Amino acid sequence: MEITIVGAGVSGLTTGIRLLQQGWKVRIISKEFSPDTVSDVAAAWWYPFLVEPVEKTNQWSIQTFNELVRLRDNEGVECISMRLGREYLEQECELPGWSFNIPHFRILNQNEIIRGYEFGWELEAPVIEMNLYMPWLLSKFRTLGGSIESNEFDSIEEVPGEFIVNCSGLGARLLSNDEEVIPVRGQVVYIKQDPGFGRYDQRPESLTYTIPRRDVTVLGGTAQKGDWDETIRKKDTEDILSKCEVFWPDLDRQNIVGSAVGLRPSRYELRLELEIINNKKVIHNYGHGGAGVTLSWGCADEVVKLLKVNMLI
Ligand code: BEZ
Repeated sequence: MEITIVGAGVSGLTTGIRLLQQGWKVRIISKEFSPDTVSDVAAAWWYPFLVEPVEKTNQWSIQTFNELVRLRDNEGVECISMRLGREYLEQECELPGWSFNIPHFRILNQNEIIRGYEFGWELEAPVIEMNLYMPWLLSKFRTLGGSIESNEFDSIEEVPGEFIVNCSGLGARLLSNDEEVIPVRGQVVYIKQDPGFGRYDQRPESLTYTIPRRDVTVLGGTAQKGDWDETIRKKDTEDILSKCEVFWPDLDRQNIVGSAVGLRPSRYELRLELEIINNKKVIHNYGHGGAGVTLSWGCADEVVKLLKVNMLI
């Protein structure tokens, strides 16, 4: 049985690898491939951000956390590093469900919280260098026997094959006629300077982060709903830097080496379900918002489960 995946971002490639590992024949058809997908510019700290429903994403994010650690420890994937990060919050709140399932998570002491905030926590989580991880995923997919084709479609009915997994991200607006999928524009700045630990305010309206990777630190961010502009805006760069300087006073603008923009494929909630369209069995796996990498392995395993339950018996 052959499965056709539409989309070659982190969700498409990860799902492809899992399906191949289950013994299925898999091809990925996509308009864009690495390095031109939005996943290539993902920030990318493991953190369930801008994605619902939490009852499901908590579990899928933990599955992904564990797999990323396994890839680093057992398969030598060096572009995944474990880094400490501190999230600052305006007021005390309930701890996220996933916090009970990761090895290092603690509430910050009052003297560790920066001015203007009341509460916060520290966690250690994977940071992924997407410029290396995307080629690694693609190469793993091919080594396992997966094939790739370049093409684009106006609707899911046009996609060849009987079994389809729809990992088309923002493309699902057209492919599945789903207007609930909208871009949430993100701009980042790259700097060659290490803040020691990452610092975060993950509220969309005041989004601020410094994500230390081995090559650069990624400074963010913006979360502009419905904004399709893929050009770098000077004003956003200035806003990002001003916000990050409050979190990281030692930031030295002379160390800036670049910037990037990506459109997060957002939806009121992620869509992971089976739909039968004209005898085609389609599993949708899109709408991951700012958590494509964070949910990638958990969602891929869910696709496998759905396939087994709905198609093979
Ligand atoms: C982002 O989408 O900008 C993002 C996601 C997770 C962690 C940090 C930033």
